[in-house]
Amino acid sequence: MRAFELRNGDKLPALGLGTWKSAPGEVGAAVKEAILLGYRHVDCAAIYANEAEVGETLATCLTAGVTQREQLWITSKLWNDSHAPADVIPALKRTLSDLRLDYLDLYLIHWPVATRKGVLVPRQPDELISLDELPIAATWAALERAVELGLVRHIGVSNFSATKLERLCATARTRPAVNQVELHPYLQQHALVERCRELGVIVTAYSPLGSRDRPPAMRKDDEPLLLGDPVIAEIARRHAATPAQVLLAWALARDTAVLAKSVNRERIAENFEATKLQLTPEDIKAIAALDRQRRYVTGEFFTLPGGPYTLASLWDEG
Ligand code: A2P
Repeated sequence: MRAFELRNGDKLPALGLGTWKSAPGEVGAAVKEAILLGYRHVDCAAIYANEAEVGETLATCLTAGVTQREQLWITSKLWNDSHAPADVIPALKRTLSDLRLDYLDLYLIHWPVATRKGVLVPRQPDELISLDELPIAATWAALERAVELGLVRHIGVSNFSATKLERLCATARTRPAVNQVELHPYLQQHALVERCRELGVIVTAYSPLGSRDRPPAMRKDDEPLLLGDPVIAEIARRHAATPAQVLLAWALARDTAVLAKSVNRERIAENFEATKLQLTPEDIKAIAALDRQRRYVTGEFFTLPGGPYTLASLWDEG
């Protein structure tokens, strides 16, 4: 398995198992299946509300000697309601307890968005806190403290634009190791990927398959079906591969880490095999032409009328 080497020599396995939308009752079996198949990277988050089940499986696999803790790369993320510096370590400790781990490999600020404590999804604008009032730099300092305490080995961010990343890098004692963002052929974000590279930040792609199992409130009627794209289908046919494998191989070919979410045994195996697929320069060129700046995960949940966030301010676009 390819891996990205971090500044201290730790290695982030390029393909990880995603667990967003993996329901309790399914996620544990998926993690177990993945680890048995050879996955060593599992991407979690407190807001996925399934970390306790993931933790149970990790404990079972570690106790049974299927793998060792040092071989695993476990990521989790700080939810928006715990950005206040005093709330960061308690939130992290809760995640560690749920995951039954004494350290995480990577802890990310999930969104550059803050809400009042206990507000998981904001319903009213006053439940949101602006980044002027609760700056990312203050949250970041608490994450740096978590590294010093040995609770996490690396820290990073998610859903950060190049502008926000640059701003953070300018003041941080420890630079973010990773920026985890939505990336796929319909949202290629070349400038962001390039800027991360220049800043020495590893990029991890989420929703590489187009995330079609998003909750209905996050879907649009007219959205294009990435897994059904004819160009991807044709490339898959030529390689005797599947569309999902092409999408994952494309992410790996651009030197990003990638998270494949599945709770289905065959598809977890299929996705793992994608690491062996080599796309040709012609394939890459054909896929480059598919870009249409289409976000599936828009962040609209955080842009309530009268609140401190707009889509333009969230993504620093437009
Ligand atoms: P399932 O969990 O039933 O396998 P994304 O990673 O972009 O968020 O996409 C996740 C969605 O893609 C889920 O609906 C997942 O369903 C599905 N999926 C995962 N792997 C594959 C695959 N190899 N082929 C088709 N669909 C897949």
